[in-house]
Amino acid sequence: MNQAHRAAKAFLAQHGRAPLGVWSAPGRVNLIGEHTDYNDGFVLPFALPHRIAVAAAPREDGLLAVTTISDNGRAQPAAPVAVADLEPGSVTGWPAYPSGVAWALRRQGYDIGALGGDIGAMGGADLVIAGDVPAGAGLSSSHALECAVALALLGLLGHELDAGDAPSRQQIARWVQHSENDFVGAPTGLLDQTASLCCTKGNVLFLDVRSGESEQVPFDAAAEDLAVLVIDTRASHSLADSAYGERRRGCERAAELLGVAALRDVAVDDLPSALGRLPGELAPLARHVVTENARVLETVELLRAGKMAQIGPLLTASHESLRDDYRISCAELDVAVDAALSAGALGARMVGGGFGGSAIALASTAILDDVRRAVNAAYSERAFTLPRLFVAVPAAGAGRDETAEDRQTDKNEHDA
Ligand code: GLA
Repeated sequence: MNQAHRAAKAFLAQHGRAPLGVWSAPGRVNLIGEHTDYNDGFVLPFALPHRIAVAAAPREDGLLAVTTISDNGRAQPAAPVAVADLEPGSVTGWPAYPSGVAWALRRQGYDIGALGGDIGAMGGADLVIAGDVPAGAGLSSSHALECAVALALLGLLGHELDAGDAPSRQQIARWVQHSENDFVGAPTGLLDQTASLCCTKGNVLFLDVRSGESEQVPFDAAAEDLAVLVIDTRASHSLADSAYGERRRGCERAAELLGVAALRDVAVDDLPSALGRLPGELAPLARHVVTENARVLETVELLRAGKMAQIGPLLTASHESLRDDYRISCAELDVAVDAALSAGALGARMVGGGFGGSAIALASTAILDDVRRAVNAAYSERAFTLPRLFVAVPAAGAGRDETAEDRQTDKNEHDA
């Protein structure tokens, strides 16, 4: 059963009525372009087939009531909150993610708390959430949740994605980021939300974060006898949150000292002189960001030229830069990358925020089993929890899912 069906079925069981609709959004991996998004740079993510689905229907008491469905099917309802009372700090824990989205949309004039139009008198929503994006794996499960909630709330308000009067996907991504930064309190960039909303099946999304310009670049690894293996290390280190903010502030300070708006504005050729003007602790951060942006551009050139197998060294260089200059890797990520490379992978790197989460390896399909075995063996040797391994193929971005009711309506219209 896919996640949309799970969510719809659980909604019916929980509320005794069918949802008005189901919307879902995927997790992501980033092929390359790590910690470049908040430096106004370039990223190249693709959507995973793993999704978070939100079944939703309006309420009449102004409350937002969110229930999650665990893997074993158990419903976990959060305490309902009044949409009108949502303010940063008013909701904590996982319910802050859906609540923050309702808050951010309200600030843009999309007020789920006033659904019937009777200013604040009515409205609210029931949301039931099911998903299979591994949590805590650096694959953006929280952003998938936020994006699916955003689409569901907008859908309930009559602004179906991609319809004439609907906000654009990139606009929604910015509002989700606003929720994450200012309601949840995580200073993240735009990579994950944009990936979840704007990626398309079969492609990687080449995004210039500064201009918002994007291009869908075909990425059919199987056609080249290649595969992207995702290695979820199942490790997560407590440093992750504080280190992210520190790195971000370091980059902003470096840009300020160099007199540019963002590190994106430093050209690779100017790097040696720029580094000479930065204090010792900031120079490696700048070096990572500037070289990583260049690696994204090179990767895109190679993909456009049909030379996928040649991107391997760029992926590995990205890992080395994140490990040595940005210093956000950890033993589990390094062991996974090294094992994959020694087994013959063309390239491998950590993805996401760092200090745990997932790595990816690009390998020929002929040696994929060797790579899997090598990574497992290296983990066993060090007594690490064995990683979760899967091959990822670019899947579709967020959207409304067809439910049994939609199909019934279509059939009735067809029969009439
Ligand atoms: C996390 C953040 C993103 C991005 C990546 C690193 O996933 O949410 O905005 O900064 O880390 O590339």
